[in-house]
Amino acid sequence: MLEVSHLDVTYGRTRAVKSVSLTVAAGEVVAVLGANGAGKTSLLRALQGAVRPSGGKIRFDGKDMTNQSSAARVRSGMVLVPEGRQIFVSMSVHENLQMGAYLRSDADIARDIEAIYERFPNLAERRHMSAKTLSGGEQQMLAIGRALVSRPRLIMLDEPSLGLSPLFVERLFDLLAELNSDDIAILLVEQNTSMALDVASRGYVLELGSVLLEDTAAALSSNTALTEAYLGGGQDTDQEGSEHERAPAR
Ligand SMILES: Nc1ncnc2c1ncn2[C@@H]1O[C@H](COP(=O)(O)OP(=O)(O)O)[C@@H](O)[C@H]1O
Ligand SMILES: [Mg+2]
Repeated sequence: MLEVSHLDVTYGRTRAVKSVSLTVAAGEVVAVLGANGAGKTSLLRALQGAVRPSGGKIRFDGKDMTNQSSAARVRSGMVLVPEGRQIFVSMSVHENLQMGAYLRSDADIARDIEAIYERFPNLAERRHMSAKTLSGGEQQMLAIGRALVSRPRLIMLDEPSLGLSPLFVERLFDLLAELNSDDIAILLVEQNTSMALDVASRGYVLELGSVLLEDTAAALSSNTALTEAYLGGGQDTDQEGSEHERAPAR
């Protein structure tokens, strides 16, 4: 489904992503792991179309997406839930969900948004409230809900568990498993290595912009040298406070 070959992302003289090749098959969950600064966000931004790669190719369903707009990628079924969620805090919950449908013109948008509310009752209760009144965990659910309204076949998430309470981290990973059983493929960038490898079938480890290692999730989890050296425990998910903390306004 997604085929990335020899992708390069360069900012001035910083080579953030160096000849990265990876694949995600239809319905697969693939983890991308690596320390801060490894190039994970840059990779996802290139896949989203927010930064133009300086080399390499991105194909989705066999179609060359490398120079396509972000909108064209969303229309084809690839969507990113960005780092830090980036919901619209000046809008209501409902308006945020409607933004997820901005490229759609079919008659099923309202029905799809209702389905999001069924999945996330916390959001339904607050549909007319400002998105900034949501907790961090609820904002992450809203960001995922907004992405789902575009009807993706591949959802890419950039560190979705960051700053969430342990309870919301559990819910988040349950949700990812549910989405995957609905046949949505997932490319998951995470610092929470153990949980990411639990939900994924394969993973890639980035170091200084390059793929250091790719393997099955089972092999990566049992690679203790790797988990100690590069990935940390990933157990401490509450370092930024509880889910009741409000995310800063953007
Ligand atoms: N907009 C930017 N301009 C210049 N350098 C950047 C920019 N974004 C990221 N970088 C650099 O690219 C490298 C990879 O960053 P990033 O993709 O954010 O890694 P990660 O998400 O794995 O922490 C880092 O050295 C970072 O400082
Ligand atoms: Mg990042």
